[in-house]
Formats: sequence, C-alpha cells, structure tokens
Amino acid sequence: MPKPIRKAVLPVAGLGTRFLPATKAVPKEMLTIVDRPIIQYVVDEARAAGIEHIVFVTGRNKTVIADHFDRAYELEETLKRRNKEEALKLLETLRPNAGSTSFTRQQEPLGLGHAIWCARDIIGPEPFAILLPDMIIKSQTSCLKQMVDLYNDTGANIIAVEEVPEDQTHQYGIVELGDRISDRASKITGMVEKPAPGTAPSNLMITGRYILQPEIFDLLSRHEKGAGGEIQLTDSMLALMEDQDFASLRFEGRSYDCGSKAGFLSANIAYALEDTQLAEELLPLLHEMIKVPAAAAE
Ligand code: G1P
Repeated sequence: MPKPIRKAVLPVAGLGTRFLPATKAVPKEMLTIVDRPIIQYVVDEARAAGIEHIVFVTGRNKTVIADHFDRAYELEETLKRRNKEEALKLLETLRPNAGSTSFTRQQEPLGLGHAIWCARDIIGPEPFAILLPDMIIKSQTSCLKQMVDLYNDTGANIIAVEEVPEDQTHQYGIVELGDRISDRASKITGMVEKPAPGTAPSNLMITGRYILQPEIFDLLSRHEKGAGGEIQLTDSMLALMEDQDFASLRFEGRSYDCGSKAGFLSANIAYALEDTQLAEELLPLLHEMIKVPAAAAE
C-alpha cells in the first residue's frame, strides 16, 4: 500500500475578477451555493476522502475563509440559548477539527504552480492532494475519494479528467492518454497547459483535482514560467512524469466550474433541486421562467 494521503492544498488566492463587484469585499470562494459557501463543498469533498489536514494558500482579503472554518463562539452560544439544536449540529458537522487547517499566503499572484509551492513546508515529504476550489464536483462518492482509491491501487500520481468540447480545450490543462488501467483510468503520456486552439492532444481536461508525490515541490521551486507568463503546475507535472507514473481518472460525477457565472448558477440550481422541499418550490418557478421567453419569441 503506498503512503496515505493525509493532507490537501486548496489554493484560494485568486482575485475573482469575473465576479466583480460581488468579490470586491467577499472572496470568490465565499460566494454561496444554496446555503453554504463554495469552499465548504470542496472541504467536504476532501474530508470525505479521508483528508486530515487542509492547507489554504490565501492572499489579502481572504481572512473570512479562516473565520468560516473556525468556531463562532457568540453565535453558537446564542443558538444554544434559543434551542436551535439543528443549526448547532450543522455548524459542528461542517467544521474541521481544531488544528487540522493551516493558512499561508501566496504574497504575489505568480500562478497556480507558485501557489502550490507555497505549501511545501506544511506538506513536507509526503504525497498530498490538491483541490482547486473553482471546481465543485457533485457525485455519489467524493471525487477525491475515487482518486485516493485509484492511488491506493496504483501508487501513481493521479489527475481527475473529463471531456470538454474541442473549442474549449485552450482554456484548460489537457492530457494525452496511453494504456488503459481500468474502465475509468488510463496512464497519462503527456499534458499541456492551455494549448493553442487546434493543437490539443485530446479533449480531456484537467478538472482541478490532483494527487501528487512531494518531488513536485523540487520542480516547482525552479519557478519556470509557462502559459500566460505564469508558473504552471502542469509544466512541473510534465517534468515529474519523466521519473514517475501518472494516471488519469474519469471520475463518476458532474463538475461545475464556479469560476464562470454559468457554472456557478448551474451549481446553484443543481444543488437546490437536490433538496426535495426547495425543489418543490423552485420547479414551478423555473418552468414559468423558461416558458416566458419561449412564448415571447413566438
Ligand atoms: C487551472 C489549471 C488547469 C486546469 C484548470 C481547471 O487553470 O492550470 O490545468 O484545467 O485549472 O479549472 P486556471 O483555471 O487556474 O486557469
């Protein structure tokens, strides 16, 4: 059995310019999907995969994320006094244990590879997971848990992948696959960050979930710039591939790119419809809204 995956890095330093003015004073990771911030879904996915310690790589104006995962003493006392047992229990279930989170700052927006490198001392010499919080993955079994299972079977570095339309490949990291390992897993033979239109080796994008060996930090410490003039994680993974195996997992589930408005809104609708009571209220309204423009167009 390979070394266990105990720690995860969540890079949360991005400015969220696509969501201005909402993100002027509120970090994009704190925007709400139904009744909880985006970041809560990602932390829940990590914890469901057995992650014991979460390292947040933050930037300025992100302190509210630390507050969110802390105990809210006054609020909890008030809820207790008012016998709001259910709300209290919910807060308790969603809060990571004391001492199981770390926060470090990226200081400068030099790219995803640089953000991950900032977590090197906290991760230390052990394999670890990365979850990009722009992506929420709705699935029966935590996506990261599915990856941990594949890692336990193969010992390889693991990257979650999914198909994207050809005309979108230039927006993502794209992998090239080799031999199949199982129905959903294959060996990775190549990868490229944001390939120019028409040059992608496949239509399989890197979805923002990774399990990597700590040797990645040596490669990231070279601080070599790649696509968009940024230090790219994909470039260091490609270099690590010369010495270590990489496998892809087409996970079971559906991803929502909450870095885009359409993805964020779809996630809200998908999670809202999963709540039976909310769905009952929402569905007639959605039907009504969808019918109106169709009728107007006639
Ligand atoms: C990052 C990664 C890219 C991946 C994407 C998924 O890009 O570099 O490989 O496909 O996340 O969202 P970014 O979205 O930070 O430009």
